[in-house]
Amino acid sequence: MRNFRNHARTEIELGCGINALLGNNGQGKTNVLEAVSYLSLTKSFYAANDATVLQLDKDVFEVEGTILTDANIEHTVRAAYSRAGEKQFTINGAKPDTLASVIGRFPIVVLSPENNAITFGGPMERRKFIDLLLSQISRSYLEDVLEYRRVLKQRNKLLLDAKLERLYSPELIEPWTEGLVHLGSRIILHRLQFVREFQEYVKRAYKDLVYDRVGGRNPARPSLPAGWDEEPGVAYNSLDGVEEAQDAQAIASLMMSEIERRTFEERKRGATLVGPHRDDLVLKIDDISVQHYASQGQHKTMLVALKIAEFFYLKERREEVPIFLLDDVFSELDDKRSRLLLNTVSSLGQTFITTTDESVFHGAVEWDGVNRKFFVEGGAVSQR
Ligand SMILES: Nc1ncnc2c1ncn2[C@@H]1O[C@H](COP(=O)(O)OP(=O)(O)O)[C@@H](O)[C@H]1O
Ligand SMILES: [Mg+2]
Repeated sequence: MRNFRNHARTEIELGCGINALLGNNGQGKTNVLEAVSYLSLTKSFYAANDATVLQLDKDVFEVEGTILTDANIEHTVRAAYSRAGEKQFTINGAKPDTLASVIGRFPIVVLSPENNAITFGGPMERRKFIDLLLSQISRSYLEDVLEYRRVLKQRNKLLLDAKLERLYSPELIEPWTEGLVHLGSRIILHRLQFVREFQEYVKRAYKDLVYDRVGGRNPARPSLPAGWDEEPGVAYNSLDGVEEAQDAQAIASLMMSEIERRTFEERKRGATLVGPHRDDLVLKIDDISVQHYASQGQHKTMLVALKIAEFFYLKERREEVPIFLLDDVFSELDDKRSRLLLNTVSSLGQTFITTTDESVFHGAVEWDGVNRKFFVEGGAVSQR
């Protein structure tokens, strides 16, 4: 990392297991995870733009990493950004076709405090969760989503113009409606299939977090742990009837008749009211909405379960073990769940874990080279 946030120049030799980044708040731990996300996603996992990442008085930031795939092939990946706004991205010195084409090549799962919005926030946060996950698996899904956004923007603009200028020309809107329905139905179908499969992954991950299967019940605590009998669920909330649709064509018909039914409303509101941009991923525990009714602990467990489920789902579809970034996760979990999470994480692959409190690792992780411990202070990283 060079001129990257508070890291003037940082080089790290990472282990292929757990990489713990320890240090006080504001020292630059999360920034290291952010750098890793640049290599995988071509951008920050949380900053809205590249400019905020650039060190305040510098002209260019760079991140470079050597990535070893499961097939034992080494790739040198480099991302750079200049204050003038020029972004460079290369893999082994070559420019990829597009930045979007890189997404999914080096899969990654991030669990950070920003993700709390997935269970607490509105539908947009959950759509983003699905989109980022599926984009790492399916190039065509990503292309559909990018194109859909473009079409939606145009169609909204026309509807808004029509509303403001009080003139409505169906001929102008129609081609955009066609595009919207074509792409929208494909996206909905893809998401429906995903949620059906994902359900089981979430259940398994949730159970693993509340109940120590390997160790069995804790003999010192003969009662069952809180949450052991909770049944998590995920469902895709979309147009009525979409669940039964067999293909994109059937979904397209449903979308079309709904758009026709709501033509007047769309004109009045000046916005597109039908399509996957209005859908939601409903999260439930025992059939009750997490967003509205879950306890703090249930929110957190659901979020972590979603991310572990994402990890396994990605791993199986991509046939490449994702890198797992965990930012400040343990501070919000109780001791027991922290232990169970650490147990799960230890068996996953390469992980990066930031924390201010090292004690969660005591007796659970051996720092043997596969697992490594780093100390971060003032934008400098040293191995311990
Ligand atoms: N563009 C930037 N240039 C220089 N320093 C930055 C920049 N953005 C953030 N920082 C600094 O990075 C530090 C926060 O780093 P972070 O990785 O979030 O810390 P933590 O160790 O708590 O995870 C703060 O000291 C902040 O001032
Ligand atoms: Mg941090």
